[in-house]
Parts: sequence; C-alpha cells; structure tokens
Amino acid sequence: MKLPELIAQRICRQYGLDESMMSGPGYETAVRQRMRAHGISDVSAYFAQFDQLPREFDDFVDELLVPESWFFRDRAPFEYLELWVKSIWQKAHSGKTLRILSVPCAAGPEPYSIAMTLLDAGLKGSDFQVYAGDISERTVDLARKGEFRKMAFRGKDAEGRLHHFEPLPEGGYRVCDSVKQYVRFQRCNLLELDSLSLAASFDVIFCRNVFIYFRHEARQRAIGHLKQLLSPDGVLFVGHADGLPMLSQMFETYGPPGAFCYRHREEKPVDSPAARPARRRSSRIVNLPRPVVKKPVRAAIPKAADLTGENRPLREAVELADKGELDAARELCRTYLEEHSPTAEALFLLGQIEMASSRMRDGEAYIRKALYLDPRHREALLQLAILAERRGANDEAARLRSRVSKQEAADA
Ligand SMILES: C[S@@+](CC[C@H](N)C(=O)[O-])C[C@H]1O[C@@H](n2cnc3c(N)ncnc32)[C@H](O)[C@@H]1O
Repeated sequence: MKLPELIAQRICRQYGLDESMMSGPGYETAVRQRMRAHGISDVSAYFAQFDQLPREFDDFVDELLVPESWFFRDRAPFEYLELWVKSIWQKAHSGKTLRILSVPCAAGPEPYSIAMTLLDAGLKGSDFQVYAGDISERTVDLARKGEFRKMAFRGKDAEGRLHHFEPLPEGGYRVCDSVKQYVRFQRCNLLELDSLSLAASFDVIFCRNVFIYFRHEARQRAIGHLKQLLSPDGVLFVGHADGLPMLSQMFETYGPPGAFCYRHREEKPVDSPAARPARRRSSRIVNLPRPVVKKPVRAAIPKAADLTGENRPLREAVELADKGELDAARELCRTYLEEHSPTAEALFLLGQIEMASSRMRDGEAYIRKALYLDPRHREALLQLAILAERRGANDEAARLRSRVSKQEAADA
C-alpha cells in the first residue's frame, strides 16, 4: 500500500513528516481507519475520492500522527525545571511572570505536568503561564478537556501528583480546574511558530519527542524557530532521542544528564582567546562509555574526554556528528567497527548518526544490534520504543518501556 505521491509531498511540506512515516503498519492503520470512517472498502477508491472528501487531508494526517504522551514523562526534566526556576530564574527575574511553551503537547500531559510541577514548587498561578500547542486539532481539543485514561500514567513518573486530578466515574482522571486555568492550548505547527499569535519570547520551551518524525529540513526549520522564541537566558528541553547535531550547533547542553536541557550558546567576542577553537563539549548524540554506577544515570551524556585509547575514533565520530559532518562521522564509526570487536556503544553511536541523517531503517537496525550486545542499554531501549510507537507498534513500545521500568526498579 503506497501513499499517492501528491498527498505524500503535501504532508512532507506542511507537516514536516519524514517519508518513512508514509509506509509501514502505522500508515496502513491510518488508511484503514479513514476508509472505515467513510465506509469505503477499496484503497484505490479511497485515494481517488481523497480530495473531494471534506477535511480528509487533516483527518488523515491526524491518524498518521503519534500523539503518544504521558504525565511527567522521563521525570528528570520536570525535576530540573523546578530547581532551575527556583534557584536561578526567580532570583534573576523577581516579580516577572514565567512564560513557558510546550509544543507539541499531544493531548496535554506535558503542559499539565509543567503546571503541576510549578504549583507544587510553591509558585502561584499569577507567577507563570503555560502555552501549549499541537498540529492536530483533534488532539488539542482533547487536551482542553483534560480527561485521561490509565495509559497517560506510566511507571512511577506521576507518583505523588494525584491531588491535581479528580477521578472520573467511568475510570481515568480529569485534571482539576485549579491546574487547567494556567494552561492555554491552541493548534499550531512547529514549522510555522513564527506566525503564532502568542509569539514572544519564552523563558522555558519544552519541545520533546517530535524531531524523530521530521525530515531533515523540517528539523532545521523548527529548531530555528525555537531559537528565536527562547529568551536569552531561557532553557529548552528536548526528548532523549532528540539530541541532534544541529541542536548542538545552535545551543549548548545545560543542566544534569537526563534532563536533556539546552540554552543559547554564549556569543564570544571575535578576538578573545575564548573565541579560538575550543575543546568540544560533550555531545548528546551518544552515551559513551557507560559509567559504572550502582544506580543508572538517566541517559548519561558522553564525556568526550573519557573516550581515550581504543575509543578515540569514536570520540572523533561524536565530534564530527556534533558539527553536522555526518558522512565523515559514519565513515569513522564503520571503520572502527571493521577493526574492532563490535561494542554496544559503537553500534548505538552509528545508529544515532544514521537517524540524524534521516536513515531511520538503518539507524534502527544498528540500535537493535547494540541492544543485542547489551540488553540493559537504556537509551537503546527507549529509542526503539519511540521508533516502535512511530510505526504504530504500541505493544512492542510498551514492552520495551516496561523493560526500562523493571531495570530501574531493580537498580533502585
Ligand atoms: C510523540 S508526541 C510528543 C508529545 C510530548 N511532547 C511528549 O514528549 O510526550 C508527538 C506529537 O507531535 C505532534 N506533531 C507532529 N508534527 C507536528 C508539527 N509539525 N507541529 C506541531 N506538532 C506536531 C503530533 O501531533 C503528536 O501529538
């Protein structure tokens, strides 16, 4: 089953989605759902009528998108948000309202989690405002409603936050009005954030778990908008699989490992010694090598300085990838793997480089190999879970995430 070329091109242009989203089980389910909605049983008949069906383009893309999200997803970003707001932002901006953007927000768990975090940290509603958006109108409507089923609460992430919810008679929970009132939703496209009516600078931006669905140019454009929207001393949170080389070109990593937080790169005066080529910062693209700790570090950032001896070529590959020189980084990694016994770290790095080059299938294959060599590789498990979600394989994604949760519980 193949999506007609013109529709595929329109989806890529308007939504930025990568072509690989337009085939595979997720795509086939979307086509079947839409055919069922119109009572059409033949695929060619459906696409022949596509342009005549009212709103079909938007409804079809709604089916294709992956609005997978849950409360306090990854936990660490919310913990760091609280710390940063109280110990840094409030001290520098006493009396000012903190402005936060959460895009894409899916059906709302992320922006509501942000508001809950700040209220529990002692901020008053008048101290902050959360703006949230997603490209899917259907999803934004659901977010405004604020009603959630069990799937929106996973593992221990939302532990201790139930006081912000009221139980629904039919099961699930509704977010209390005392939280809802501080979150404003609107439909928006990450590729057109410059036209947002609310456009102004934001002190905090959450833009998580979306770049993986985008083609290269769309990522570039979205990151450019985020750079413009982030206030000079603001912080940007991305997802654990979003640490793209192009992100590191515009921003620098900030905060603790696992928070996946960035801030603007400091502008250095041209003649100052600091402006001379500096030693590269650690990149978010890989997790190399894994520190030996009793408790797993949440998605540890690699320290280039640690990659010495035999691992030196991998360090160079990280540095090249960080500069956006993906072909050269790939070459180095491949040569390394030809000359050494394969390690989970090298394979995971190569997988990340392939994904950053929009070669999702190759990327996934390398990440699977990394997991085969190290079945506890947390980032590989999480990345494969995201890729499974993207294909519409939600059971597989749930299995992978549950492996991470079990590991965390065992290590705690
Ligand atoms: C996997 S969810 C991530 C939600 C949330 N940030 C999180 O990490 O849990 C991805 C969302 O991206 C949205 N999306 C896809 N393309 C978009 C675009 N061009 N602009 C805004 N949202 C988009 C989808 O509708 C979907 O709800």
